[in-house]
Amino acid sequence: MSKELIELGKKNAANKAVEENVEAGMILGIGSGSTVVYAVKKIAEINKAKNMDLKCIPTSFQSRQLIVENGLTLVSLDQYPVIDLDIDGADEIDKSLNLIKGGGGCLVQEKIIASASKKLVIIADYTKKSEFLGENWKSGVPIEIIPLAHVPIMKKLEKFGGTPVLRMAQAKAGPVVSDNGNFIIDADFGIIKNPLDLNLKLLQIPGVVDSGLFLGMAHTAYIGQKDGTVKKF
Ligand code: A5P
Repeated sequence: MSKELIELGKKNAANKAVEENVEAGMILGIGSGSTVVYAVKKIAEINKAKNMDLKCIPTSFQSRQLIVENGLTLVSLDQYPVIDLDIDGADEIDKSLNLIKGGGGCLVQEKIIASASKKLVIIADYTKKSEFLGENWKSGVPIEIIPLAHVPIMKKLEKFGGTPVLRMAQAKAGPVVSDNGNFIIDADFGIIKNPLDLNLKLLQIPGVVDSGLFLGMAHTAYIGQKDGTVKKF
């Protein structure tokens, strides 16, 4: 897999999604991750060039920084509880546009913003598209949890047939702490044929805040291909 082609895929998908969906005066949800960086740059460019008066709601600390650094107007869900359009990346996208998200640890705020949006548009490169979730994304389903419950939750996930791993930080001793002060477990369930059933099981475990399964939420996915084109699903 060429790193350059993947970056090109992300950039092309982000640019096309912004060009085709962002309209003047919109309240935008701004996703998290590396693909969204391209989208925010494009949004800032057209906002300035066309004086579009766009307002942006972040899905993470990273996304908040992106909005501010690119000179966009930062607003909150308190002020604008209904979002016109949410643009976000994904770790995997299946044939029905169900998603695995949370590779960057921002799934909870991302799901809140997605659910408050009239339209969720996903942007990604060609490595993210599969028939079933779990086919290409091998790191497991990210699950945000309340820290004190991590041991019993790991045991329950094993009972459900998963292989859970507590996500550890890279430049700090101990686990990753999310933007909400919680831990994240990545649980591998192999190929997920029934994501709805799995999600219901996960959400019933006490101490689980939310899962990275985003089911029936995405409206369109823009997938940047190796040859520079963008396929829409
Ligand atoms: C953040 O928690 C994730 O949900 C990201 O949206 C997802 O991991 C995609 O990130 P990239 O655009 O970096 O692949």
